[in-house]
Amino acid sequence: MKIVVYRLIHLSLVLLLMVGGVAHSANAPLRMRHAMVVSQETIASQVGADIMKAGGNAMDGAIATAFALAVTHPSAGNIGGGGFLLYRPAQGEPVVYDFRETAPQASRPDMWLVDGKYDAQRHHFSHLSVGVPGTVAGLHLAWREHGKLPWAQLLAPAIRLASQGFIVSDELSTSLHEGMRRMQKYPAANVQFSNNGKPFEQGERLVQKDLATTLKLISRSGPDGFYKGRTAQLIVKEIQSGGGVLSLKDLADYRPVVRAPLRGTYRGYEVLTVPPPSSAAAVIEMLNMFEGYDVGSMGFGTTATLHLMTEGMRRVFADRAHYLGDPGFNPDMPMQRLLSKEYAASLRTTINLKSASPSSPDSFDWPEESPQTTHLSVVDSARNAVSLTYTLESAYGSGIVAPGTGFLLNNEMGDFNAQPGLTNDQGLIGTSPNLAEPGKRMLSSMSPTILTKDSRLFMVTGSPGGRTIINTVTQTILNVVDHNMNAQAAVDAGRIHHQWLPDTVYAEKFGFSEDSLSGLRSLGHQIAMRESFGAAQVVVVNQKDGMLEGGADRRDADSTVAGF
Ligand code: DON
Repeated sequence: MKIVVYRLIHLSLVLLLMVGGVAHSANAPLRMRHAMVVSQETIASQVGADIMKAGGNAMDGAIATAFALAVTHPSAGNIGGGGFLLYRPAQGEPVVYDFRETAPQASRPDMWLVDGKYDAQRHHFSHLSVGVPGTVAGLHLAWREHGKLPWAQLLAPAIRLASQGFIVSDELSTSLHEGMRRMQKYPAANVQFSNNGKPFEQGERLVQKDLATTLKLISRSGPDGFYKGRTAQLIVKEIQSGGGVLSLKDLADYRPVVRAPLRGTYRGYEVLTVPPPSSAAAVIEMLNMFEGYDVGSMGFGTTATLHLMTEGMRRVFADRAHYLGDPGFNPDMPMQRLLSKEYAASLRTTINLKSASPSSPDSFDWPEESPQTTHLSVVDSARNAVSLTYTLESAYGSGIVAPGTGFLLNNEMGDFNAQPGLTNDQGLIGTSPNLAEPGKRMLSSMSPTILTKDSRLFMVTGSPGGRTIINTVTQTILNVVDHNMNAQAAVDAGRIHHQWLPDTVYAEKFGFSEDSLSGLRSLGHQIAMRESFGAAQVVVVNQKDGMLEGGADRRDADSTVAGF
C-alpha cells in the first residue's frame, strides 16, 4: 500500500517548473544538450551554468558555483572549510584536489580532554574545533591547473551576491532559524546571519558586506588574500582570543594536495573516487561486494536487496574504522587489499543471505556528525566533469565568524577521534589512524564520485550527510546501474544507512514498503526510521543520445539543475 501511495505522490509531481533553463524537476530528469550544474542551491547552480555559457569549462563552472554557494548556502557552502574535488577531463588523466582542513601545529591527540576527561563541546563546538581551512587554496590550485576563464571572473558573481544581497528562500530561512541558536553567541555571526537579531524570513534580502570584502581580496590576490594579510590576521585574532590554537603560520603553510583518484570497476563501468583522508574507498569496496549478486533481479527496495546492502555497509564501515586516516600519517593503510575484487569475494563468504550478522559487541561506533555539507556535479559541452563535495562539518560549522571577515569557520577538528584508547559503546572511538596530530588531515566520508563507460563519461554523483554519504553515493549508483533508474529517480528513491555500529538499519520514512521492512526485521535487523539522508546531486550522460540528465535532490528544496 505504501508503495502505491509513494508512486501516486510521484506521479502527481511529474511537472517541471522551468524558468529560463533552471528547473526543479520531478521524477523525470531535466535534460540538457551542452552543459549542466546540479547543486544544492538555485542561484549558485545558475551562476555555474552562466559561467559555462560565457565560455568557461566544467572546472570554471564548478569553482564559480562553489564560491556562489559560500554566499547563498552558508550552512555548508564555504571559504572557511574544506573538501575534495574530483576532476575528470574528457581527454587526459583524472585528478583529485584534496583541500581537506589540517590540524594546527599545536594540536595533540588528547587536546579534547579537560582534567583528563573527554569534553565533546570542546571537540566539536569551540575555537579548538577549527581546522586550517582548505577551500580557497584548493579551488585556486584546481583553477590554475584546469580552469579556462580568469580567476576574477569566477569570483565576480559571488562578490555581487554578497555585496548586493539576494532574496532568502524558505529553505534558507528555516535553516537560519535553526543555525542561529548556535551562532548567536558569536557577535559577528549574529550580525551577519540575523536581521537585527531576528533570523531572516523568506523574501528578505541577505547582504554580506564583510564577505564581499574578503572575496574581493581573494579575487585580487588569490590564496594570499585569505591565508596572509588582513584575512589571516582577523582569523587568528578571533581564534586565539577564544582559546584556540590556529596560528598565522598554520594559515601560511596550508597546502592542498593533488592525489590520484581511487579506481574500481562495477559491472563494466569504471568508478573513480577520492582516496584517504576521505573514506570513499568504502564505495568501491561495497560495489565490489555487490557485483557478486544480481542486484537488478533482486529488485529495488525488496527485503533481499535491503539485507544485502546492510551487510555490505556493515562490513565497509568496520574497515573504515579500523584502517583509514590521513595517508601522510598512516603509510601502511591496506588500500590495495581493501579495493580488490579478491577481498570483496572473501567478504561475500561472510554474508548470510538469510540472516543478519552481528556487529561485534566489543567494538565501537563513530561520534555524531550532523547532516551539513554540500555537493555539486558539473559537466561541460566537451564532457569534462567535476564532482565536488565540501563542508564546514556541522551546519554553519563552528558558528564562529571572525569579526570583519564575513565567513564561517569550520568545526572539522570534530572529525578526529576523541581520545587515544577510549573506545566505548557510547559513540567514542580512540583508534590511532585518526587521532589529532600537528598538520594531519581528519578522516572524511566525503565521496565525490564519477563513473565512465568505455572511457566516456557516464555519471557524476555525490552527497552531503556525514557517514551516510558513502551509502547514499553507493545507492545512487545501484539505482542507475542495477535498477535502471534515470538520474532524478535515482536521487528520489528511498535510502537506507548502516554504519556497523550502532547495529541499526536507518531507513527513510517514505522510501520502503512495510512488507520489505518487516521482512528485514525477520532476518534479524533492528530498524529505525529517519526523515531523510543526504542531498545527492547527480548527472547521468544518456548513452543513447548523449544528452545530460540531471537529478537534483528535493530532500533539500533549493537543489537545482541548471544548464543549457
Ligand atoms: O568530512 C566529513 O565526512 C564530514 N565532516 C562531513 C559532514 C557532513 O557531511 C555533514 N553533512 N551533511
